[in-house]
Amino acid sequence: MAQSNGKTVLVTGGAGYIGSHCVVTLQEAGYKVIALDNFANSVDDGCDGSIALKRVEKITGEPVTFYKCDLLDTVYLERIFQNHQIDSVIHFAAMKAVGESMQYPMLYYKNNIIGMINLLEIMKKYNIYNLVFSSSCTVYGEPEKLPITEEKRIGQSITNVYGRTKFFIEEILKDVTNSDDKWNIIALRYFNPVGAHGSGLIGEDPTKQFTNLMPFISQVAMGKKEKLTIFGNDYDTPDGTGIRDYIHVMDLASGHVAALHKLEKSHIQIKAYNLGTGRGVSVLELIKTFEQTNNVKVPFTFEARRHGDISTMYADPSLAERELGWKATRSIQEMCSDFWRWQTMNPVGYKTVLTNGHNH
Ligand code: UD1
Repeated sequence: MAQSNGKTVLVTGGAGYIGSHCVVTLQEAGYKVIALDNFANSVDDGCDGSIALKRVEKITGEPVTFYKCDLLDTVYLERIFQNHQIDSVIHFAAMKAVGESMQYPMLYYKNNIIGMINLLEIMKKYNIYNLVFSSSCTVYGEPEKLPITEEKRIGQSITNVYGRTKFFIEEILKDVTNSDDKWNIIALRYFNPVGAHGSGLIGEDPTKQFTNLMPFISQVAMGKKEKLTIFGNDYDTPDGTGIRDYIHVMDLASGHVAALHKLEKSHIQIKAYNLGTGRGVSVLELIKTFEQTNNVKVPFTFEARRHGDISTMYADPSLAERELGWKATRSIQEMCSDFWRWQTMNPVGYKTVLTNGHNH
């Protein structure tokens, strides 16, 4: 059991993929965790609890206080702040499907932006100013120079509404900090999170139709989908397929603990950090590594480029290393084997077992 460091952190979107992995790392670092989620893209246990967070409790041996709460419900949100002495907030809760965001822009602007504003207002009312915000490398748009550093101007040539919500929120956070220097905020710009906790107990379980590469590869390897479609083999890359910076979700999680430690030690007002490995991997390389690591076959075909995709994106993660003392350490092989362990132990995700009407 982790020794409590006496600090309490509120994790919004705590039942989701990145949120649940982060809760493990926070508890292991000694934080008390209060989590909330509206189950928009996560799985409930039929009694307003989170299956993922029950599994987290099994991993860490520590309880997670959980509320089924939507950030648009300010009355209920405020009750959580009244009930607990919160020191810091990590804000994951948001909608993140690129295609859906183009179809339902208002849904994305309402949930992501109003949700953030509601949270900021309540934090201020309760004198809580330490915030870690889930941003994305998507705020950079099409890169002119690689690897991408935090100095690159953000907000240009963003190809979708989801990405714009992340950019707009980063701008809102700057304005809020300018107006009141008590704010102490870190925006973490994630590259491509993949993998799962090594126990195989928690992982990515998209409740919506997904388009991200690794869950798709894994579904094909399971035989649930016939083949993978590779979007484009005519990019200006060594093998013609798109290059991304895949990062193990447990490395991403430890980046959040490093960010919290930074906010606790120093008053930086607002700063953004890339969380990536610094290494670009092509679609074909990822498929080959997945096949070799897990001894499976992933049939694929090539099709036209996906609208809005860019060719190559990878991080310069050195600022986070210098200032947060954080570095991604897990290999592509680990990302593939951990994802596969989760997938094979939970072939239909969290919805597997039903006893006495409750999922476990
Ligand atoms: C996408 C989002 C990005 C978001 C990120 C994390 C777009 C344009 N961008 O990034 O805003 O922050 O997810 O959720 O959707 N690929 C295939 N076949 C597939 C799926 C993907 O070839 O079936 C390729 C893509 O063309 C790309 C790579 O795999 O080259 C990674 O794709 P994906 O996992 O969807 O992530 P991004 O597009 O980088």
